Amino acid sequence: DTLGIVGVPVSKGQRRDGTEKGPQVLRDGGLIEKLTRFGWNVTDYGDVNYDYVDDDLPYDHVRNPRHIASGSLNTADQVERCLRAEGRCIALGGDHSMAIGTVMGHARVHPDMAVLWIDAHADINTPLTSESGNIHGMPLSFLAHELDNYISYLPGWEEVKPCISVDQVAWIGLRDVDPLERAIVEKFNMNSFSMQEVDQLGIRRVLDMALEAVDPTGTKPIHVSFDVDSMDPLYTPSTGTPVSGGLSLRELCYIAEIVAQTGRLAVIDIAEVNPTLGDKNDVDLTVKTTIDVISHFYGQRRQGNAPEGAEIP
Ligand code: ARG
Ligand code: MN
Ligand code: MN
Repeated sequence: DTLGIVGVPVSKGQRRDGTEKGPQVLRDGGLIEKLTRFGWNVTDYGDVNYDYVDDDLPYDHVRNPRHIASGSLNTADQVERCLRAEGRCIALGGDHSMAIGTVMGHARVHPDMAVLWIDAHADINTPLTSESGNIHGMPLSFLAHELDNYISYLPGWEEVKPCISVDQVAWIGLRDVDPLERAIVEKFNMNSFSMQEVDQLGIRRVLDMALEAVDPTGTKPIHVSFDVDSMDPLYTPSTGTPVSGGLSLRELCYIAEIVAQTGRLAVIDIAEVNPTLGDKNDVDLTVKTTIDVISHFYGQRRQGNAPEGAEIP
């Protein structure tokens, strides 16, 4: 089966340089070779262009608005193209503003997709609720129709239009949600499964409930938006906004194996790997863990994988 890779080297959705190197360190870590070993015919579409924009002054306090808008539109085009040609797309970020483009591109092909947003953060601030002004904390507010009336003008942003409903999204792993983000979650009765629910119910019930909420018929294409800071910083230390008390590698492997078994994973975002943070051990561990998790979304089983038609000598 075929699978496409799209690099999304964006870092101006937050303040630390380095996430633009995420796609390259994941490729250099052997991701494509590993996917090939699990039977995938992988095509690398290279990196999306994020244009440098002169005088991209903050608007209100929102940083780099024109740059992120134009890069997001390029990302949407490339993800759409990859998905139409290959049927599946791995988008290698990049900070989490990448998802503005990946979800827009995915929605052009499958407007009814179910979105699992695996993250310590809700990433649903609007430009008006955001305290940081960092767009990586806002992608869902631009994507959901229900929030359109709450989005103020931003320069360069005319063609970025909402494409999903709040009901198509479920979060897993939340533990650092801003007060007004929580107000949005409650106002729209959104599907949030924080670390509290993971502790109370276990990852099995949480994943069942999240999938039941966004895909009750078990038929929809799935978009996983995987922010590596969803995991405990023990496993993925090289990320810009680490929060302790996160998901374990086992919990991520469980999510990945169950999503893989649906056969409906269409797009996955890999967000917030920053190889300029921490020492070499931290970076190596972050890259290794991330590639391991991706492999489990694409067929690697902890029980082991027998080769097709294997003869035992
Ligand atoms: N809620 C905070 C903000 O709006 C943190 C967002 C962190 N987002 C992320 N994709 N790591 O800035
Ligand atoms: Mn996050
Ligand atoms: Mn995020």
